[in-house]
Amino acid sequence: MEKFIAAFSQACAEGTFVKCTLSRASAAAPNGLKNLYLRPVEIKKQFKIAFNYRFATKDEVKNYPPAEAAQLLEELLGKQFLNADLFTTAQDYTLSFDKKGNASVQVKPPAQTEKADVSHDRAKNRLLDPKAPWLHALGITNAKGEVLAHAQDKWRQINKFLEIIGALLREHPLRENAQIADMGSGKGYLTFALYDFLTHHQDLKVRVTGIELRPNLVDFCNETTQKAHFSGLNFVAQDINLYQPERLDMLIALHACDIATDLALSKGILNNAEVVVVAPCCHKQIRKEMHTRNALAPILHNGILEERQAEIVTDGIRALILESRGYHTKVFEFISSEHTAKNVMITATKNERHTSKREQEALAQVAAIKSEFGIGVHYLEKLL
Ligand SMILES: C[S@@+](CC[C@H](N)C(=O)[O-])C[C@H]1O[C@@H](n2cnc3c(N)ncnc32)[C@H](O)[C@@H]1O
Repeated sequence: MEKFIAAFSQACAEGTFVKCTLSRASAAAPNGLKNLYLRPVEIKKQFKIAFNYRFATKDEVKNYPPAEAAQLLEELLGKQFLNADLFTTAQDYTLSFDKKGNASVQVKPPAQTEKADVSHDRAKNRLLDPKAPWLHALGITNAKGEVLAHAQDKWRQINKFLEIIGALLREHPLRENAQIADMGSGKGYLTFALYDFLTHHQDLKVRVTGIELRPNLVDFCNETTQKAHFSGLNFVAQDINLYQPERLDMLIALHACDIATDLALSKGILNNAEVVVVAPCCHKQIRKEMHTRNALAPILHNGILEERQAEIVTDGIRALILESRGYHTKVFEFISSEHTAKNVMITATKNERHTSKREQEALAQVAAIKSEFGIGVHYLEKLL
């Protein structure tokens, strides 16, 4: 414990302090307090340590001079929090307490060797640092960290995605060491962004796995992961259908083609993921199945209208199936269709007040829609 506090004070004095995360809140912690995140800030030219107290539903931030911060740490560690990770540009330290209250410290090489950004508004202004080397490796920025002209849409999409994730997790926080899978991760833009955002902006400890059929993309992403020192991010070359996680807390599937979205959704549902985020792509399965029997039939021979109707029916039924399986869902525009045609997003979070009445109701609604459009089966139903 003394060693840990001394390392913290030294890092503050030498300007090498990056951040410190306190986790494993004990029963002695205030009600609902999950984590405490410390980072250096400069306020009115004074060096302070910002303490971000993360409760289940809100954040509270207080700033302290370094000496006071060290004293507070000493009071909290081993009492309210049983684990702490200290990151400095020289070395990283993990302090943990066992059941008997004995402390041990592990020292590791630094995960980040760049000095921390101490601007007070950092967290508010920027979800992602455009200077992050992975953005350059993926062809979004140039070597100076400027977003390239051809990548502006992608950059906007990434930022919008992170905004949505931030809001979603504020309402529905993930457990510690959450396991996240991004199915159909492609070149990994959104997977890298998600990992960077959650670990560096939200100060969460997570493991993110990208699942992707194409091995060349997986190899490229894993090489980039290593260069970025993102130890909690990896990619596997596999069919989503064969993926069998030990645990899945959050499922992401963005623009996964046609039934790949259903494959991903079924993995999320069957593994009881707390949070699900999908942005479906093409909707071929339902379009082929549709034999419309209602008043819309005469207008759906127009290809574009049939395509849009198939999209509405496919995603609407997906949301209802999620509802029947105990989720709260939202379906909304992901990003304006100016930037991409694939612009619908479905988010789902576990509904703690789910009832069998809601299950029956949602299933009856699915059956009614299928009957209206002469649909035999929705692929997601078949998978479940
Ligand atoms: C349109 S890309 C989207 C990539 C990324 N999610 C994004 O939004 O930028 C869809 C990706 O899903 C992958 N994919 C499709 N079906 C899959 C399956 N059954 N298992 C794993 N990956 C799959 C494709 O190879 C492709 O790279």
